[in-house]
Amino acid sequence: MADTKRTATLTLDGNTYDLPVLSPTVGPDVLDIRKLYAQADVFTYDPGFTSTAACDSAITYIDGDKGELLYRGYPIEQLADKSHYLEVCYLLLNGELPNKEQMADFEGRITRHTMLHEQIHNFFRGFRRDSHPMATMVGVVGAMSAFYHDSLDINDPWQREVAAMRMIAKLPTIAAMAYKYSIGQPFVYPRNDLDYASNFLHMCFSVPAETYTVQPALAKAMDRIMMLHADHEQNASTSTVRLAGSSGANPFACIAAGIACLWGPAHGGANQACLEMLREIGTVDRIPEFIARAKDKNDPFKLMGFGHRVYKNFDPRAKVMKESADEVLDLLGVHNNPLLQVAKELEQIALHDEYFIAKKLYPNVDFYSGIILEAMGFPTSMFTPIFALSRTVGWISQWKEMISDPAGKIGRPRQLYTGSEGRDYLDVENR
Ligand code: ACO
Repeated sequence: MADTKRTATLTLDGNTYDLPVLSPTVGPDVLDIRKLYAQADVFTYDPGFTSTAACDSAITYIDGDKGELLYRGYPIEQLADKSHYLEVCYLLLNGELPNKEQMADFEGRITRHTMLHEQIHNFFRGFRRDSHPMATMVGVVGAMSAFYHDSLDINDPWQREVAAMRMIAKLPTIAAMAYKYSIGQPFVYPRNDLDYASNFLHMCFSVPAETYTVQPALAKAMDRIMMLHADHEQNASTSTVRLAGSSGANPFACIAAGIACLWGPAHGGANQACLEMLREIGTVDRIPEFIARAKDKNDPFKLMGFGHRVYKNFDPRAKVMKESADEVLDLLGVHNNPLLQVAKELEQIALHDEYFIAKKLYPNVDFYSGIILEAMGFPTSMFTPIFALSRTVGWISQWKEMISDPAGKIGRPRQLYTGSEGRDYLDVENR
């Protein structure tokens, strides 16, 4: 964050206030209003944070107009093409790509943390058998703070490191167990001879009764989905993790808060909602009806997988995801998949429709991910858990960055109060 020595001037009731202008490495300048309330006795008003930077961060950069996403400066397209999920995890956590030794060490450490404390199995069994895997994940990840007491001290950098490793390593195990529990199958233990994505597929799809072989091409597609979801700047769930962490809450509690926020259909829950919408549309000839509903102000229906707070151009993740969808369906021999046909046609119609053009609504990452996950054999209820386990590294990187900042403060927004002025209590017989 460079101080440019430029200032903006605010004039209010005849008084002027100089607001420092801060310049980021790339992106728009930022007005520093930290001292505004003390100096001018006013707050700023920005519900939904549409014009507010809540922190400084060196992890991820998005240019919404260009449709650009950088992890630590590296374009997502290059990473999706050349890297792999654990390397991206290392990059997000540490700021630089690892050399061979660093990668081997990191991979080894993650691999040796994949098992869960055996007593957590009992905790799982307390959930109703038809629980949504996201409900189970919120509970189990929060409960990790009751099992791993030696990584709760947020002031100890080593414990923060161990908590980060544990969560990156164990989230796939937890997500797979939540899935197995929801379908009444036995839990499958992790296998350390498999890579991260293959191990996740193994824990989801193998059963003790027979041998399961992970198809390398599917593991690669899974790994790519994980990379594309690994971080995304200060989105709702990441901001939730930061806000929870700003009070000094332990890392497991903070990540559980992030998972809870991600669940909503306006955020990570959109991948499930999108596939359900494609199924509801069913055939290409019904698309105009749904486009008309999306444009109708009196209808709450929105095209799921379309629109984004920051991207006002194609979401670069959606482009990569679309290619992957074609590859995976080809690989699985699924030709003329009706959902993919509906998705592609819907995309074309929306991209040429005046309403969507004017509002700059483009497909987002969730538009194609559900089609791939469904083809791999996942039920829709697992789409958001897969997003959650992939995003865990982003949340934990952002949390670590925040905790390591000595100038950090508890997050405490203010409000524009619109309630009653002070008034006297009335006894019930006088109301
Ligand atoms: N379909 C139809 N109209 C839409 C859509 C959509 N998917 N998204 C936005 N609009 C319209 C809004 O009605 C609004 O119209 P108005 O100006 O006439 O009132 C305008 O476009 C601006 O939309 P907002 O909701 O104000 O934009 P915001 O930045 O607050 O919301 C959001 C972004 C939540 C992603 C929204 O586009 C949406 O709900 N999309 C569908 C859900 C979705 O796909 N979410 C995933 C996001 S990506 C992620 O979390 C991984």
